[in-house]
Amino acid sequence: MFAAREDSGNGRAAVIAGVGGWVPSGTVTNHDLAARLDTSDEWIRSRTGIGARHVVEPGRATCAMAVEAGGLALKSAGFPTVDAVIVATSTPDRVLPATAPEVASRLGLGRIAAYDLAAVCTGFLYGLANAAGLIATRAADSVLVIGSDTFSTIVDPMDRGTAPIFGDGAGAVLVRAGDPDEPGAVGPVCLGSGGEWSELITIPAGGSRQRSEGTSPAAEDYFIQMQGRKVYRHATDRMVESSLTALERAGWQVGDVDRFAAHQANARIGVAVAERLGIPVERALSNIEQVGNTSGASLPLLLADSAAAGRLRPGEKVLLAAFGAGLTWGAATAVWPDVTALSVHDYRA
Ligand code: UT7
Repeated sequence: MFAAREDSGNGRAAVIAGVGGWVPSGTVTNHDLAARLDTSDEWIRSRTGIGARHVVEPGRATCAMAVEAGGLALKSAGFPTVDAVIVATSTPDRVLPATAPEVASRLGLGRIAAYDLAAVCTGFLYGLANAAGLIATRAADSVLVIGSDTFSTIVDPMDRGTAPIFGDGAGAVLVRAGDPDEPGAVGPVCLGSGGEWSELITIPAGGSRQRSEGTSPAAEDYFIQMQGRKVYRHATDRMVESSLTALERAGWQVGDVDRFAAHQANARIGVAVAERLGIPVERALSNIEQVGNTSGASLPLLLADSAAAGRLRPGEKVLLAAFGAGLTWGAATAVWPDVTALSVHDYRA
């Protein structure tokens, strides 16, 4: 497993300086789904912990949500400019070009480095590691890391295995160069992958492989296909493993963890991982009931919501863990800094 050490850049760490979260106001409740699918509010709540998910309005998508969340993170940090924008997404507005340059442009950030990163639900942690690398190598002094995904456009509305799970949203964190020992410094980011399991979560059509085959794909091949039960087992095992690696590299004990922020894939997965790690479940942060699984947006949105609601407080030691298609996975540590998180959170009203 790759681990970016926080001391690899002459002492320059990536320090969290601002955080923002945004979800569209449109909601799809479990009852809405039960009206068209063979499912129920009771099944979805008990098997996933999800009560509703948000859906972006027609004509808006990943870029628009990334601009909203990114703007909130910049405001939260009080930063007028940044040196690079990374957008972690698997639902870019177009196959090409990347979404990040347009995000940077729409935020008025000038001619800066901007690129997308494809690690699906682990994308935000991969993005944080990238940002730490840019800062350590002095390519940048500040980086805006955004997770934004519009899974409503890739989920088959008639597939009861995926439609209840995924929702749209965006979250963003602004990191700046700082000291590895100061609050907000992102600790070692431990990342991994297992490409031999790529078929467990996939969209078969629309990529170069299918296009080069020259075949006409079935309509369902343009939608996400997930072998939920197998994915569930990997998600649990991989987040436990990477969390233990991240804790070891940070020099933390499990008992040091004040808050556990796991990718909001399924409430049962978060509980299972916390229990296996020995972290009391009440220390696990969660917003899955309100937003569902927002893929690349999941972790930064969770941080923004939790900090804005006072469930994640300055000085608390937080362990981050994520898992997604690829397969990909990762974990990282940070002491939560004194930042004013900004989250558009109509769903908490
Ligand atoms: O974010 C990226 C990574 N993604 C994940 O980590 C997702 C991981 N997987 C999961 O969260 C779960 O596997 C699901 C929520 C997708 C499915 O839950 P499950 O407990 O694994 O259900 P299952 O697929 O094993 O199905 C159990 C039963 C089956 O019925 P039988 O065969 O026991 O009669 C399914 O047909 O539940 C049935 N079922 C449903 N029933 C009502 C499956 N989906 C539904 C549904 N409503 N939506």
